[in-house]
Amino acid sequence: MEKNRGHFGTRLGFILAAAGSAIGLGNIWKFPYLAGENGGAVFLILYLGFVFTIGLSIMLAELAIGRTTQRNPVGAFKTLKRGPWTAVGAMGVFAGFFILSFYSVVGGWTFAYAFKSATGLLATQDIKILGNAFGGFISNPIEPLIYHALFMVITITIVLRGVDIGIERTCRILMPLLFILILVLCIRSLTLPGADVGITFFLEPDFSKISGTMITSALGHAFFSLSLGMGAMITYGSYLSNKVNLPHAALWVTSLDSIIAVMAGFMILPAVFAFGYDPAAGPGLTFITLPAVFSQIPGGMFFGTLFFILLAVAALTSAISLIEVVVAYLIDEKKLSRTRAAIVSGSTIFLLGVPSSLSLGIWSDFTIAGKNIFDIMDYLASNIMLPAGGIFIALFAGWVAFPKIMNDSEGGIQDFRWASIWQIICRYIAPAAIAVILISGL
Ligand code: TRP
Repeated sequence: MEKNRGHFGTRLGFILAAAGSAIGLGNIWKFPYLAGENGGAVFLILYLGFVFTIGLSIMLAELAIGRTTQRNPVGAFKTLKRGPWTAVGAMGVFAGFFILSFYSVVGGWTFAYAFKSATGLLATQDIKILGNAFGGFISNPIEPLIYHALFMVITITIVLRGVDIGIERTCRILMPLLFILILVLCIRSLTLPGADVGITFFLEPDFSKISGTMITSALGHAFFSLSLGMGAMITYGSYLSNKVNLPHAALWVTSLDSIIAVMAGFMILPAVFAFGYDPAAGPGLTFITLPAVFSQIPGGMFFGTLFFILLAVAALTSAISLIEVVVAYLIDEKKLSRTRAAIVSGSTIFLLGVPSSLSLGIWSDFTIAGKNIFDIMDYLASNIMLPAGGIFIALFAGWVAFPKIMNDSEGGIQDFRWASIWQIICRYIAPAAIAVILISGL
């Protein structure tokens, strides 16, 4: 193992950091509104199905590739096999820029909502008022950009300090706190009068409504939510020592991530129905419904503020993993200092996010196929780039690098009971399934 590379201090520290990458706005903001738009229970089943087959296998592939090579995604592919495979790593670095640009815009909203809760601006259960407040905020040309900038500055500051101090410590303290708060909110939401309609919507599938779009979104979201398909888990794996059992770690991270997504569904969807809101309302769902839930609990202002702060932290720990892919690449391959790498990439990402934010207000007239810039960025990244990256990572692990990432004495997986099944999934099942879904989605 290289001495000068940062490493995670403990096994638990790593699992929390990787779970910190996986758990973020994807689980708490995106999953509930996607489930709301895509038939509730059907989406839940498809999503969990993808997570525990394709998702889990690719998670293990990425971690193993990272730990064996101790490199950023570009360097990792190059180390295992010279040639065109390096392009997969490069695509990952590119996807990191892309995703973080709009992710940071939403991350900014969570900060804004923490302030708004603290100053009592959201203290109402009137869903119309909350809807207007949200719409007014995101369409403002200036305010969301200030929070987007704040979000990127904090992300850069944490990444500047390096992997072990900055990332691991933050996750270890704050992730458990977020978990407890979500649990409390689930209970409140599930006990609201009228919540049962939402519970039925989320748990009783109506397979007659299944559509191609649902399948594509569920697959795309499985990748997004687990941070897969662009090398984030390769990068985190590269900071891992060979004491950790990789299949266990992969299972832990995958399970924690989907537990939080399901809990977020229970936190939002019953409340949506209880307050008579439209489950297909899209990206505003969480931001509009949650304040109404807070208005129904004692100390709602306090807990609302705390919740949005913790959500911002969850978003930050995910953002860190996105920018870390870019930063690790610039450090390893382009020999930039960590400081320069973080500042240069962070400011570029900020600028790239500006059109996404403006497309929710003054630039909303610009659309392609009915999608504004924000939706286009999200669609290209989640439904195309990540699954495409997943195909190549699976093929690479199954066909090219398998012996090395299994047996390497320094960083390989070593003994793994399900190795041959895992290899079959990587070689055939995952690439074929993803390809079919990707192509039918276009
Ligand atoms: N998984 C994170 C979330 O659910 C987002 C994220 C972090 C991500 N790193 C990633 C998505 C890498 C795709 C690829 O919020």
